Amino acid sequence: MTDNYPVVVYGASGYTGRLVMEHLRELGISFIAAGRNREKIEKSVAMVPGIESARYQIVALDHTVEALTNLLAGRKVVCNTVGPFNRFGREVVAAAYNAKVHYLDTTGEQHWVVELMREWDEKFRGIGRLIVPSMSYMYGLSEVGARFCMDTPGVDSLDMTGIAVAVPTVASAQTILDAVRQPSVYLKDHQLVQYAGVETCDLTTPSGRVLRASQWGGTSNPVWFSRDGRVRNCKMMIAMWNQELYKKELELERANKVSLQWIPEEKLNPMMDAMATSIAPATPPRESRYVHRAIDVCVGTGSMVMVKSTMISNGGYYSTGLMQAYGAARLCREIPRVAGFASPCEAFDHKQLMAAMESYGYAGIKVERLV
Ligand SMILES: NC(=O)c1ccc[n+]([C@@H]2O[C@H](COP(=O)([O-])OP(=O)(O)OC[C@H]3O[C@@H](n4cnc5c(N)ncnc54)[C@H](OP(=O)(O)O)[C@@H]3O)[C@@H](O)[C@H]2O)c1
Repeated sequence: MTDNYPVVVYGASGYTGRLVMEHLRELGISFIAAGRNREKIEKSVAMVPGIESARYQIVALDHTVEALTNLLAGRKVVCNTVGPFNRFGREVVAAAYNAKVHYLDTTGEQHWVVELMREWDEKFRGIGRLIVPSMSYMYGLSEVGARFCMDTPGVDSLDMTGIAVAVPTVASAQTILDAVRQPSVYLKDHQLVQYAGVETCDLTTPSGRVLRASQWGGTSNPVWFSRDGRVRNCKMMIAMWNQELYKKELELERANKVSLQWIPEEKLNPMMDAMATSIAPATPPRESRYVHRAIDVCVGTGSMVMVKSTMISNGGYYSTGLMQAYGAARLCREIPRVAGFASPCEAFDHKQLMAAMESYGYAGIKVERLV
């Protein structure tokens, strides 16, 4: 059983799950396409280019720890794409732990990353398995850029920015709205410090345009680097080329402070999902790599050094599909270097991840020593 269908793609009916399957097929890894609705999974699988040469099975199941544990038993890795993770992630993590499989997800939710670090690191280390959130464009790729800066000895502070063209899927829009309502943190003098509220700044693009940016829920990078004794400070700000989206986020954060935070979750979630529908009414069409481009910049400084990495990438969802499949393929074929909670780069190495992105034409990077 272990050699057959070693990877479970959970959320296979979704936009991201489909791209994970597409890249697993490319990498020659057989998989189980799993989710709650067989008909939707069948439709999704049928849209995967080249699916006729893939080895896969479809499994529909209930979203319970028990059903998921049974599904994962005897497998090696689960690629979890069912978000928002703060709502749906806990059952999958518990099942991965019960079944002793590696866990990868696509979260961009900082509070979820913090929860995994605090509650699951030791447990997964105890069973020799990895738990890697944000194995995705946000914030795996920006971490790659930061790690290139950290290759320069003496760098202790990471000032990071990301600029993206957003075409959110249904769950992504829900996730964005969920994430911005949570308290978020950045790293200051080795401590994770809570943002007082919505922090904004102007961000200049390499072409000289000025965009309004915000902390966008905090990002995963301060969390990764809070565990690295070399790094004192780490902060990341995000701007969208589509500035309307950013304004909606700002309005929502303010509404949350004034009234939303008093509403019980069970009533709030349907309200927020209705709001998300105004951002993403339906599954968007396949990305265009000529349109959906992102720029991630990291400036790493120390007392006597300064280094900058500039990454251009295309297709945030494509890159997410590849990152998941690449990580899963490695975990099927090797014993991981680390166990427990790990960032994408801690688990798979920044140079290797970058090479994987480059091999598909998904991202290019320039690293400059400024001082
Ligand atoms: N960080 C990044 O760069 C990045 C990139 C891509 C995606 N993501 C995240 O990944 C998540 C999925 O995104 P997506 O683009 O795939 O969204 P999507 O197309 O809307 O798919 C959502 C998936 O979750 C499933 N699902 C929803 N509620 C469920 C429930 N209660 N029980 C079981 N399954 C449930 C859906 O199943 P049905 O089809 O049956 O509804 C579907 O398979 C989002 O949180 C998104 O933010 C992050």
